[in-house]
Amino acid sequence: MNQEEFYKLLETRRSIRKYKKDPVPKAVIEKILQAGMQAPSGKNRQNWRFFVATGEKREEYLKYSQKSWIGIKDVLQKRLKPSLYEFTERFFYTLGDAPVVIFCYSHNDKSERYHTSIGSVYMAVENMNLACFVEGLGCCTMGAPLEIKNEVDEFLGVNELEEYKNGELELLCALVLGYPDHEPPKAPRQLEGRVTWLS
Ligand SMILES: Cc1cc2nc3c(=O)[nH]c(=O)nc-3n(C[C@H](O)[C@H](O)[C@H](O)COP(=O)(O)O)c2cc1C
Repeated sequence: MNQEEFYKLLETRRSIRKYKKDPVPKAVIEKILQAGMQAPSGKNRQNWRFFVATGEKREEYLKYSQKSWIGIKDVLQKRLKPSLYEFTERFFYTLGDAPVVIFCYSHNDKSERYHTSIGSVYMAVENMNLACFVEGLGCCTMGAPLEIKNEVDEFLGVNELEEYKNGELELLCALVLGYPDHEPPKAPRQLEGRVTWLS
């Protein structure tokens, strides 16, 4: 990939909320995870933890996704026009038929500042967003599961882990992914007022 293609990739990537039902081969999911784990992290702690739900487990998660919608819908109803609101509601109810959900956790501990731990995991999440794109997949990062964080922890069995019992494992987001079945328009970017130059 040359320079131009790299910047094009950043510009062209977008969140996908409608997928083909085709399964994603495990080897491809592994490539996405590997790409995530190439990310930089504070003190190179690589404090990301991923839990991958496919098949029955992904199916079972739908009712949690539906529940997470309850906590978000009122805010979105005020922000989105009706057609987009309905589309988003459908996405939460079906996950847009995405066959794979990767739950992304941070392993926080006292040897690293909290925000650095969180940031490191999101570096990995962005790598995975881009890797999906080059693999011909689509994905959508979702903060929605945080609405029902404890229930998701139990659903995945994360609450049984020693690090969790020590208060060190924290759900940050889910990444739903699959082969795209729509081409959404580019979500506009506001470039003004975001950067202050000092010299
Ligand atoms: C931390 C984070 C949480 C997000 N949570 C959700 C979510 O719960 N549901 C959803 O549909 N999209 C979610 N998104 C996707 C954003 O809505 C999307 O990235 C943004 O609108 C820009 O669009 P683009 O990704 O197509 O450029 C999330 C993105 C990020 C980075």
